[in-house]
Amino acid sequence: PMGQGGEDADILLANPRGFCAGVDRAIEIVERALTLYGAPIYVRHEIVHNTFVVEGLRAKGAVFIEDLADVPQGATLIYSAHGVPKSVRRESQARGLRVFDATCPLVTKVHIEVLKLRKEGYEIIMIGHAGHPEVEGTMGQTEDGMILVETIEDVSRISVKDPAKLAYVSQTTLSVDETRDVIDALRARFPLIRAPKKDDICYATQNRQDAVKFMAPKVDVVIVVGSPTSSNSNRLRELAEKLGARAYMVDGAHEIQPQWLEGARRFGVTAGASAPEVLVKEVISTLKARGAGSVSQLDGVTEHIMFPLPKGLKLPGEQGA
Ligand code: F3S
Repeated sequence: PMGQGGEDADILLANPRGFCAGVDRAIEIVERALTLYGAPIYVRHEIVHNTFVVEGLRAKGAVFIEDLADVPQGATLIYSAHGVPKSVRRESQARGLRVFDATCPLVTKVHIEVLKLRKEGYEIIMIGHAGHPEVEGTMGQTEDGMILVETIEDVSRISVKDPAKLAYVSQTTLSVDETRDVIDALRARFPLIRAPKKDDICYATQNRQDAVKFMAPKVDVVIVVGSPTSSNSNRLRELAEKLGARAYMVDGAHEIQPQWLEGARRFGVTAGASAPEVLVKEVISTLKARGAGSVSQLDGVTEHIMFPLPKGLKLPGEQGA
């Protein structure tokens, strides 16, 4: 049985961990579209960056595509939780697609901020990882582009039009600590740079990193459940490693290598915002099979945030969805 808050167990579970409100909502949108409109339902990019989730939805009739040219005229298309550039919305409209938007509302909030800043004439710097779909979506809100920075070194390299008319936004799933350093470097070089009212790093990213900070010092090995493409999961693994634990990220329990566990007495387990709890359960079983005894949930904040679904996905007989 799982203990509560006891810290003498062999396996400690970080809290919170796993699904965030944006991921919950995105998966629900695909499932409802499948129920209401029937397969195939096209999804632009992996709905969330998790192999297990994507394979599950694929088995139910979701078809994952990157290029809208692969979606037949008039079909139903869902945008992934990471958001899309404006050009994709235009293309969907031109092809007469029925669209449901699973962009996380916290990503949309950044898109709206970008539009507002551009209207006020600001040049915008985006802090984020090159090639990540959220970065492509957010930077694709402007017609004339934005400046991407990933590191402090990037900050010293960029050139801007007018340092007095400069603002920054960020990806929602970055390392809280590294982003603070990049922002400090931006402020040092461009003292007039305008900051977002509230940080763009989302509550789920912040809370999962806080939970790893609490857990990692208490254990020898940290296992993060998450897919290689998942930004926030990668940050959790890096953070645990920085705090001195041997840290590994796995897509599922089958990836755990026996030698990772050698000489370890205490294990910490967490999961990225796109990784389902069933995979955490499998990791716990695997650790137990390799000799770990008791399991204990660490204390942490309780998340109550929930996002409403888009219109047009009410199930028959359902009120007010
Ligand atoms: Fe949204 Fe943050 Fe999750 S941006 S999808 S709540 S990780």
